[in-house]
Amino acid sequence: MNLTLKIWRQKDASDKGKIVDYQIGNVSPDMSFLEMLDVLNSELITKGDEPVAFDHDCREGICGSCSLYINGEAHGPDRLVTTCQLHMRKFKDGDTIFIEPWRAKAFPVIKDLIVDRTAFDRIQHAGGFISVNTSGNTQDANAIPIEKADADKAFDAATCIGCGACVASCKNSSAMLFVSAKVSQFALLPQGQVEATDRVLNMVNQMDEEGFGNCTNTGACEVECPKGISLENIARMNREFLTAALKG
Ligand code: SF4
Ligand code: FES
Repeated sequence: MNLTLKIWRQKDASDKGKIVDYQIGNVSPDMSFLEMLDVLNSELITKGDEPVAFDHDCREGICGSCSLYINGEAHGPDRLVTTCQLHMRKFKDGDTIFIEPWRAKAFPVIKDLIVDRTAFDRIQHAGGFISVNTSGNTQDANAIPIEKADADKAFDAATCIGCGACVASCKNSSAMLFVSAKVSQFALLPQGQVEATDRVLNMVNQMDEEGFGNCTNTGACEVECPKGISLENIARMNREFLTAALKG
């Protein structure tokens, strides 16, 4: 395939940035999207040009770092996959592909397609954990009976990889789907009950401090989420928040 790539180039956080056109040929349908960018970068380096900076690590849908906005969709046109799992067979010869970074005030661009997502880390630090007594009297987690339906829902929530596609696809740049997944994975388990009140209050407060917008029930986040995190988690987080606020 021969393709035209329109890629966001931005030297650093203070640079205005612009779309730059590139032509790329001999793209195999079996390549992943990131492999196609690797080929482009090796051509740019051979010509003495600056390669396109983009984030990636695991390249198997686990780490959540390959955050690209492709033709106006977070992680591109496929469903339930990250950019690293997207294959070029989803495109056709002669296509023009727009490639941009996540757009959100709370995710400032560092360079080209790389954004700073440490706001998510700070939200996690605010409450996305449980404290476990490791004095030698720790109860074996497997000895605590948990309803299968709750265990399944907690597991589903825990599959959130913190990629930020929910924020990027939301017209309000809301982080509610991410935060609700991180709250829900503990809210559904007995181990999460001890710190439940502080957790939801602290995480939601941190989310607001980071400058993410609010949820207006559009649902774009659920559609674009590569892990299929359900909006049901946002409803659960709202209930948890209300209960915690009334207690507090
Ligand atoms: S909820 Fe989905 S889209 Fe949002 S950070 Fe988690 S995995 Fe990514
Ligand atoms: S590179 Fe890790 S999820 Fe894509």
